Amino acid sequence: MQDTHLAALPPDLQMLYAAAVVARQNSYSPYSHFAVGAAVRTAAGRIYGGCNVENASYGLCCCGERNAIFAAVCAGERDLDAICVVADTQQPVSPCGACRQVMSEFKIGKILLGNLKGDIKICSLEELLPYGFDL
Ligand code: THU
Repeated sequence: MQDTHLAALPPDLQMLYAAAVVARQNSYSPYSHFAVGAAVRTAAGRIYGGCNVENASYGLCCCGERNAIFAAVCAGERDLDAICVVADTQQPVSPCGACRQVMSEFKIGKILLGNLKGDIKICSLEELLPYGFDL
């Protein structure tokens, strides 16, 4: 796990971060008031955004990371190489267990966790989900 800052990222990862911040603007989070944005990048360099979408029936809420990954998959993409997730947190936001498992399904190698101040942690799947489930 590497702690860094937006300004120190290479331009391609700065773009991925920017896409996550933009996706976050569409967060529908009237219950938690905790807006999350995510952006996933394909091996070919295409970027798909997602935000958290909540529901009055709380269990139906879906996280930003999963919505970004599902948007990519629904567009026919399966070769996903990086994801960035952003929230307005003191430290870089930590993805929930369900999202870690979904990242694992698509073997997303590079995972960027960020906040709006531009603090970034870069981690691997193995760091986020050691001994994860696989069939
Ligand atoms: N949330 C995410 O979007 N991603 C995470 O990894 C953690 C939690 C959302 C779900 C819910 O809409 C809100 O944050 C509060 O839990």
